[in-house]
Amino acid sequence: MSCRICGSNTKTFLDLGNSPPANSLLSKPIREINKFPLVLEYCTNCKSVQLRDCLDAEDLYKHYFYETPKSLTLDQHYRYLTNFLETRNYLNKNTTVVEVGSNVGDYLKFIQPKVSSILGVDPAENIAHKANKEGIPTIPDFFNLDVAKDILKKRGNVDLIIARHCFAHNSNPHELLKASKELLSKDGHLVIENAYVLNTLENNEFDQIYHEHMFYFSIQSMQKALSINGLKLIDIMISLIHGGSIVFIASNIQKVAKKSDSLEKYLNHELTFLNEELLYNFARNTLKIKDDLKKIIRDIINSEKNVIYSYGATAKGNTLINFLELEDGVISYCVDSTKIKQNQFLPGSNIRIVDENFAKSNPPNYFLLTAWNYKDEIIKKVREAGDLDSIFIVPFPSPHFA
Ligand code: TMP
Repeated sequence: MSCRICGSNTKTFLDLGNSPPANSLLSKPIREINKFPLVLEYCTNCKSVQLRDCLDAEDLYKHYFYETPKSLTLDQHYRYLTNFLETRNYLNKNTTVVEVGSNVGDYLKFIQPKVSSILGVDPAENIAHKANKEGIPTIPDFFNLDVAKDILKKRGNVDLIIARHCFAHNSNPHELLKASKELLSKDGHLVIENAYVLNTLENNEFDQIYHEHMFYFSIQSMQKALSINGLKLIDIMISLIHGGSIVFIASNIQKVAKKSDSLEKYLNHELTFLNEELLYNFARNTLKIKDDLKKIIRDIINSEKNVIYSYGATAKGNTLINFLELEDGVISYCVDSTKIKQNQFLPGSNIRIVDENFAKSNPPNYFLLTAWNYKDEIIKKVREAGDLDSIFIVPFPSPHFA
């Protein structure tokens, strides 16, 4: 296929088979669910990794089950990110902010006292409605050129546009960049936070592959996408959140903007380590992790202590569970703290989602930790609730117990 960033030919390097859209939770179990391919492509020109087949964004996001969870790990990350933005002078008391994919508005709420104005844009109508009800002004729409022009007319240019973990969620990255270019003030900045492809590949996190994640950005591919749209990558922040994320800072000033030392440093690192050998290792390790996890689970099922729940009704978890092709009933329940997910069923595996109190009253022998990005926080919570016995199976970077 041709790369959706730069148009060059891509190479296929991993095929995870067919999977249902990972966040489309079911109100009742469905045997014959629609499944779509999860095939990964690599562009040797701009060094981007992307899905071969992209589903329609309207279908994926208009009614959405993902609500940002209440989490100490996330609170800590918000402080770390905001501190970075303040220290490097991207954000101050006079900054006007638009957040794209703002979900229920948790991050906007966090930075509100530190900036001049906030506005969210999120296509999930149910989620945007909730944000508005909580006092976070949110436009229920996709951030595109029309919406950018509309904001421009009503509010004027914006100093800072933030897109956290949503930029890879659309098949056309140029659309959001064009809209950002339109809306940013002359010396404004665009902040894009995403899973970093180098971490995803190095940690074997193949569960990050699902239909919403249409791109797995490298620094080089982001640089290319930005420059095509008249924006310039000037700074980078690396964070441990969600298994290893990267924050790209782009300036609207093409000519004078100077690159930071961190951009030079991380770009050099990427030039050394992001290569085809890493991609093929990742593909091999994916199959090995599948075999290892299946063996662990088979041994548990054949033992006396054979009750397994998964922890976290995550999109990642659905990729993982569907890819493992477990028999019905092997995982009895999936535990999740998000109210709108509870009593729904995971697509493909039809596992029922229960709340954390259920797990507290009916602890299993094992939890397959499908929200491994909150590992320390979740294990601490379970232990403090009095469950000292349930053993956690952590799938990555290779399956182990905790
Ligand atoms: P995410 O990795 O896509 O952010 O999803 C994390 C999921 O894990 C989300 O549905 C909420 C759930 N979760 C819990 O059930 N308990 C917790 O303590 C935390 C932090 C998350």
